[in-house]
Amino acid sequence: MEAPNGHIPVLPSQVLEVLQPEPGQVFVDCTAGLGGHAAMIAERIGPSGTIVLCDLDPGNLARAEARVRETMSPGEPSSANVIAIHTNFHRISAELKDRGIRADMVLADLGFASTQVDDPERGLSFKKSGPLDMRLDTTAPIDARELVNTLSERELADLIKRFGEERHARRIAAKVVEARGNAPIETTDQLADLVRSAIPRPSGPIDPATRTFQALRIAVNDELGSLDALLSRISSGAKESAKGRGWLNPGARIAMIAFHSLEDRPVKRVFSAMSSEGLGELITRKPLEADESEIAMNKRSRSAKLRAIRIVG
Ligand SMILES: C[S@@+](CC[C@H](N)C(=O)[O-])C[C@H]1O[C@@H](n2cnc3c(N)ncnc32)[C@H](O)[C@@H]1O
Repeated sequence: MEAPNGHIPVLPSQVLEVLQPEPGQVFVDCTAGLGGHAAMIAERIGPSGTIVLCDLDPGNLARAEARVRETMSPGEPSSANVIAIHTNFHRISAELKDRGIRADMVLADLGFASTQVDDPERGLSFKKSGPLDMRLDTTAPIDARELVNTLSERELADLIKRFGEERHARRIAAKVVEARGNAPIETTDQLADLVRSAIPRPSGPIDPATRTFQALRIAVNDELGSLDALLSRISSGAKESAKGRGWLNPGARIAMIAFHSLEDRPVKRVFSAMSSEGLGELITRKPLEADESEIAMNKRSRSAKLRAIRIVG
């Protein structure tokens, strides 16, 4: 299941269990990444199925497309029914409606991929020196450098507190504003050192820069705004589906994988509301998580939580 670049999809058997792919179905991967999950589904739906891939990162999207085409139609990749769309997943319903496609399965595996965090030039890791970028979409206009150097101390503290759940947010913002008074903060290691110096007596195995980097990444990419918008499209898609319209087929299965509570909470809330309104049946009452053997093989799976719902129909 491992991709040539070392990326391993999280919770692979659980994704298959909740989506139950069948030959000829339409699968929409909102976060194509390196095509790990999509290749797995491609094997099940076969050459008569359709796969729609979406990603903010044009490089990942191209890698995923090549891999999925080859899996679906070995030796004849151009004949596979694969549609790759470079867009934010909150636009996926509009993109599908434009093309007259309705989904049987939807997956969103949130956050970033190994290609992104491992590349120092993307500025996502405090463990590697690189420019303060953090954009998942390399064509987007605003990067972390701009936020760190232009937000007011108050705005910066609020951002770090809200998206990083960091209790030392005020101290960190004060340090950043003091330092940038001398010269702009340009690199990941400059920022990481400032954060570490702002936190009194750090304890435990987690680097003190972790929460601030998470907060900036979430803000740069408007991750929670995009997630809320996608969840709202899923909920309205379920209402339309009952009337035989929209981007979701009756009985469509939706799976979301979250990596921290700021992502998992809205998924849980919207899926429960859909279930109470009779729009969907929960496939998972409690989130599915990785077992010890998966965690030993893939550290990133440790915090993954998978929730799934089946649209009524
Ligand atoms: C964890 S990776 C997905 C890995 C993929 N499931 C696999 O098995 O290879 C997350 C991907 O989602 C993309 N992404 C994150 N937020 C997005 C958004 N709002 N819209 C579209 N793509 C997004 C990232 O660029 C990244 O490539």
